[in-house]
Amino acid sequence: MEAIQIRMREYPGAGPARAVWALTHDPLRPIADGEILVAIDTISIDPGMSGWITNKRSYMPPVKPAGVMRAFGVGEVIESKSGGFAAGDWVSGFTGVQTHGVFREERLRKIDTSIAPPVKFLSGLGMTGFTGYFGMSDIGEPQEGETVVVSAASGAVGSIAAQVAKHSGARVIGIAGGPDKCAYLLDELGLDGAIDYKQGDVAEALARACPDEIDLYFDNVGGETLEAVLSLMRYQGRIVVCGAISQYGDFAGAQGPANFMSVVTHSLTIRGFTMRDYMHRVPEALGWLIPAWKEGRLKMREHLVEGIEKFPDAYEMIFRGENHGKLLLKIS
Ligand SMILES: NC(=O)c1ccc[n+]([C@@H]2O[C@H](COP(=O)([O-])OP(=O)(O)OC[C@H]3O[C@@H](n4cnc5c(N)ncnc54)[C@H](OP(=O)(O)O)[C@@H]3O)[C@@H](O)[C@H]2O)c1
Repeated sequence: MEAIQIRMREYPGAGPARAVWALTHDPLRPIADGEILVAIDTISIDPGMSGWITNKRSYMPPVKPAGVMRAFGVGEVIESKSGGFAAGDWVSGFTGVQTHGVFREERLRKIDTSIAPPVKFLSGLGMTGFTGYFGMSDIGEPQEGETVVVSAASGAVGSIAAQVAKHSGARVIGIAGGPDKCAYLLDELGLDGAIDYKQGDVAEALARACPDEIDLYFDNVGGETLEAVLSLMRYQGRIVVCGAISQYGDFAGAQGPANFMSVVTHSLTIRGFTMRDYMHRVPEALGWLIPAWKEGRLKMREHLVEGIEKFPDAYEMIFRGENHGKLLLKIS
C-alpha cells in the first residue's frame, strides 16, 4: 500500500517559498506490535507551522529536511496491533501531512465522534479551543466589567478566547481584518465592539472603543497592533501573549513595540504560554467547551480546503488572512 506525503525539502531561504514543499509517494511498511495504521482524514493548518520549518530554538524541534511536514490531524484506524485501538476508531495527534501513517500507540489518542464530527476536534474542541480557553481563563482571568481586547478575534484561537471572556462578564472588543470578520464578531459572537485594523487608524479606533482603558489584552498578532494596545493599557493591566502572527514572515527581523517602556510605567504583567503547559489539563477544557458548544453558548467555525496537494496554498492563506475560522485541509 502506498501513502502520499508533503515533505519539507529544506528550510525556507531566499528562494521561492513553494520550492520548500515536495509531494511524494512512499510505500507503507507493515505495522509492528504496539503500532496502528491510520488513514488521515483532515489536518490542521497552523500559523505555528512557520516556526516548525525554521531551524532555531523553539518549544519543539524543527522538522528535519526531507521529513514529512508536521501537522496535527484526525483520522481513522484501519489496522491495529495495539490493545488500545481497533479498526474503525477515530484518533487525533501529530499525524503529519500525509494520507496514511504508521504510529506507535502512545503517539495518538482516541476521539469520541459521538460527541462531535471529527473536524471539531481540530477546531474548538481541539488544540485551538484549548489554547483560547486556557490562555484566556487561566492566564488572562477576565473579571466582570473589565475591558478585554482580543486580536485575530475572528480566528480559531481568538474567537474562543473572546467568547470565554464574554462569558466571564467582561466587555470584549475584537480586532479583525475586514468588514465580514467584524460583522461576525458583533452579530455571531456577540462582542461589544469590533475594530477592522485594515481600515483606518487602529490606535484611534481602540481609544474610541476603550474609553476606560484596557484591563486585559489577548495578543495573537504582535507588531503595530500590540504597540497601539500598549499605549492604552490601564495601570497594572495584563497581557496574554498567545502569538505574534504579524512577525512570522521574518523571525530574524521581528520588530518589538517602540513603546515597550509602558510595561514599566504602567506596571503591566505580560505572560506568554504554549499548549505544552496545559496538556495535563485538557479534560478540564473539554468539560467547559463541549457543553458550551452543545448548548449553543460557544460558536466555532471551520474553513475547509480540499486535497493534500493544496497544502502549499492553504499554508500561505493563513498569513494573508484568507481563512475565516479554523483552517483545515481535508486529506481524504
Ligand atoms: N500559544 C499557543 O500555544 C498557540 C497555539 C495555537 C495558535 N497560537 C497563535 O494564535 C494565533 C492565532 O492562530 P490561529 O490558529 O487561531 O489562526 P487564525 O486566527 O484562525 O488565523 C490566523 C489569522 O491571523 C490574522 N493575520 C494573519 N496575518 C496577519 C498580520 N500580518 N497581522 C495581523 N493579523 C494577521 C488573520 O486574520 P485577520 O483577517 O483578522 O487579519 C488570519 O486569519 C497565532 O499567532 C498563533 O501562532 C498560539
